[in-house]
Amino acid sequence: MKTVAVVGTQWGDEGKGKIVDLLAADADIVVRFQGGNNAAHTLVVDGRKFILRLVPAGALHPGKTCVIGNGTVVDPFALVEEIDNLRANGFLSSEDSLKLSYDAHMVMPYHRAIDRGREARLGRNAIGTTGFGIGPAYEDKVARSGLRFADLIDFRSFTARLERNLKEKNAYLKSVLKAKPIRTDELIAQMKTLRKRLLPFLADTAGFLYSAHEAGKRILFEGAHGAMLDIDYGTYPYVTSSNCLASAAFAGAGLPPGKLDAVLGISKAYTTRVGGGPFPTEIKTGVGKRLREEGDEFGSATGRPRRIGWFDAVLARHALRLNGAWGLALTKLDVLTGIDPVKICVAYERAGRRYEQMPPGRVGLDKIRPICEELPGWHQSLQGIRAMADLPAPARRYLERIGELTNVRLAMVGTGAAREAIIMLSNPFQA
Ligand code: IMP
Repeated sequence: MKTVAVVGTQWGDEGKGKIVDLLAADADIVVRFQGGNNAAHTLVVDGRKFILRLVPAGALHPGKTCVIGNGTVVDPFALVEEIDNLRANGFLSSEDSLKLSYDAHMVMPYHRAIDRGREARLGRNAIGTTGFGIGPAYEDKVARSGLRFADLIDFRSFTARLERNLKEKNAYLKSVLKAKPIRTDELIAQMKTLRKRLLPFLADTAGFLYSAHEAGKRILFEGAHGAMLDIDYGTYPYVTSSNCLASAAFAGAGLPPGKLDAVLGISKAYTTRVGGGPFPTEIKTGVGKRLREEGDEFGSATGRPRRIGWFDAVLARHALRLNGAWGLALTKLDVLTGIDPVKICVAYERAGRRYEQMPPGRVGLDKIRPICEELPGWHQSLQGIRAMADLPAPARRYLERIGELTNVRLAMVGTGAAREAIIMLSNPFQA
């Protein structure tokens, strides 16, 4: 298969970065199509740890083209910092290796200030956003007051629009959010510098992808966040502000419908979430704390401790169906070593009613009781295991049960943080 999308099927942080990095070896082009630097992919390559927020994980493979599509919102300050960091480590050495859509919208400092100001005002009702201005930037896009990278071409008219925006945003920041306004002259000067750095990367990315597809190139779409953070199908309002499903690759990268060959859903062997909102299988006992520590479950974007829960098959079915998943990659199985028994949520119960599927509109998710099955755990380390046959029998049974409950082919199993710590059962680019 030639075009593959990798998407999260939980609340983000499923370990997509590692899978994308692995599949990028077989791809010519790697594409981001939604979200912004609220995403963060942690990758361990040759013992070195990299955190990528905006640049697709293909950047760590020489010779690949990385594309940031029109559906993303990009903080120009964060992007330039990330490019510099990658270059300092010997990656992204040519300007050709990164293409940024003219049509992508910018996240401006006032978006960040509004995001943070609103969250502070909401207090205990806060969404728990990353504070990177993602929601306010998407709001402006839809309100038709956003600034696109294309607008940088004519800097005079860009400045005029920026000043107009700032008048409104600063009034809102001061009078409603009681926050510090953004200095217009300072931001214009900063944008002038950033413009010079970013213009060489701007490209008609949709056109580029179309031609590449026609020429038979292999394209990997790198989803950010996860299905339960999807603006439509997630746990609204505790979601991010973009569509996080594979279908977003069509609008968010300009890929024509029908051109996506396979979707690989990524899920952890357990569940995590950062920020507020319902979490049916959340573990409130010491087991949660242990998994957080063993799995290093602290947000890569914000450092916040992640909430921990059991694997949720109801949620997985919802996410895999919406994504039309061809396969599932299950990451971090090694983290469950020593947990005995392990649990899997097979259905929900609320007010005496059993739910095999997500309740419509995800209503009442904060009040449901997860119906869990207990399976025997395992105690042997999974370090170095590269084949199913070498897994302890209870670990194999755990995977088998997840396969039965989700009815999707198990394509990969993660057994550690390193690039090579994986049991590869089915590589979509080789299928
Ligand atoms: P925002 O995307 O910063 O607006 O945050 C909205 C919600 O999505 C919050 O609960 C964040 O913690 C969550 N979120 C956004 N991006 C990610 C991610 O990449 N991983 C995990 N949670 C995320």
